[in-house]
Amino acid sequence: MEDATPPFEALLALNAEAVEAMLRRLLDTRPREGEIVRPARLMAAMRHGVLNGGKRLRPFLLVESAHLFDAGGEAALRVAAALECVHCYSLVHDDLPAMDNDDLRRGQPTVHRAFDEATAVLAGDSLLTYAFDIIASEETELPATTKLDLVARLARAAGAGGMAGGQALDLAAEREPPGEEGIVELQAMKTGALIRFACEAGAVIGGANGSEHERLSAFGAAVGLAFQLADDLLDLTASIEVMGKATGKDAAAGKATLAGLHGEDWARRQLSGLVAQAEELLEPFGEKAAVLRQTARFVAERER
Ligand code: IPE
Ligand code: IPE
Ligand code: MG
Ligand code: MG
Ligand code: MG
Repeated sequence: MEDATPPFEALLALNAEAVEAMLRRLLDTRPREGEIVRPARLMAAMRHGVLNGGKRLRPFLLVESAHLFDAGGEAALRVAAALECVHCYSLVHDDLPAMDNDDLRRGQPTVHRAFDEATAVLAGDSLLTYAFDIIASEETELPATTKLDLVARLARAAGAGGMAGGQALDLAAEREPPGEEGIVELQAMKTGALIRFACEAGAVIGGANGSEHERLSAFGAAVGLAFQLADDLLDLTASIEVMGKATGKDAAAGKATLAGLHGEDWARRQLSGLVAQAEELLEPFGEKAAVLRQTARFVAERER
């Protein structure tokens, strides 16, 4: 009975509020045990990069994946906030002059614009390391083995074989365009890895069995590909006002994207295929996965 559940956008907004509140708490200037001081300007730059109205899609995927297994609560929200810290760090560094050289992010000046480049580098470093602190912390009430599993998975998703490696391949692709397979691979890394982690983390927190875990992982991979395909499509078609970031940049930078290579119609057909694939992977979870199915559709059809 789809009518009984609140509209998808309301669910997303509700979760974003909870994540935002958690992030605000985590990013105050009071040093935690073992820290010496939290420099005010660095903390301000971190807050600028995080508390600025992102869609909070990765935290939503994590929390909703955990819900499939009747898990969630404060611990899942803390892991979700940690993941958002990694995502925001990736954006702060992605926008640097050495990478995409962007001035606008989420409708505001990018961190290196609002502060300076060195502070943006350090804010990114601090957000990345803080994510692991948040997960490992005693305040995250999960079994130690679960936290260790999450830390290892997040490290792999964010590192050289995941997001950061994908960013390296993405930059290399501006110099030497990769083939279609190369594009798919780099996108699975730069964007897909963190999105897949979101879904896997929900399964880990929820104590999923092997095949459930594999399904969530494959679902995350399909949603991750759809997410970047939609981002590339929006770069082609959407306005700076709606996106809150510069558009039309991929083609200008000679960046090879699937949407650029095959055009808009192809990209939309491909997106439908990825959504169908994602939905099918959730079949065994039945009605419980209704929100995750809607999330896959939202990712493909989003307008910002
Ligand atoms: C933008 O991610 C970067 C990509 C991986 C394409 P989002 O579109 O999730 O950005 P926010 O967090 O909502 O600003
Ligand atoms: C960014 O891809 C992916 C990561 C930040 C890891 P893009 O460079 O396309 O993201 P936007 O368009 O700047 O958000
Ligand atoms: Mg980039
Ligand atoms: Mg960029
Ligand atoms: Mg983009």
